[in-house]
Amino acid sequence: MYDLRDLYQEIVVDHSRRPRNFGELEEANRTAEGFNPLCGDQLTIYLKVSDRVVTDVKFVGTGCAISKASASMMTEEIKGKTVEDIESIFESFRRMVTRKHGEDFDSSDLGDLEILSGVSEYPARIKCATLSWHAMQAALSDKREAVSTE
Ligand code: FES
Repeated sequence: MYDLRDLYQEIVVDHSRRPRNFGELEEANRTAEGFNPLCGDQLTIYLKVSDRVVTDVKFVGTGCAISKASASMMTEEIKGKTVEDIESIFESFRRMVTRKHGEDFDSSDLGDLEILSGVSEYPARIKCATLSWHAMQAALSDKREAVSTE
C-alpha cells in the first residue's frame, strides 16, 4: 500500500536528484566548507546575509543522497529567515535526527524538514543529514576553516 513513508521517500529522492539552490553564489558574503571524514564527502555553503537575515543561500559539493537532499531542503527552509530563527531550526533539526527510538520531538518550526525524521533510526546517516547544517552554521559564524562532522 502506498503510504506517507513512500511519499517522504519520493521527496528525498527528488531533492537528491534535483537539488534546489545548487551552485555557487557570487554575491555570498559568508561561506564555509563541511567535510565528513568517514566517507570523504564534502560540500560548500554560500550565504548572503544582510541585517541578520539570510537573503540567499546556495551549495555545491559531493555527497550521498541523504546529505544532498538535506542540504537542498535546508536551503529552501532557511532562505529569508533571521540568523536567530535559523539557529533555532537547526537545534530542532538536530534533536529530531539524534533522538532515541520512540522519543517525541517538536516539529513546529521544521516544515518539510520533518520528512527526514526517519534518519534517527540509522545512526550512520545522522552525519550525512547534518553535514550541510554544520557547514551553514560555520558560515553564519564566519569560520574560515572547514568543519568536520567528527
Ligand atoms: Fe558521505 Fe553521507 S555517505 S555524507
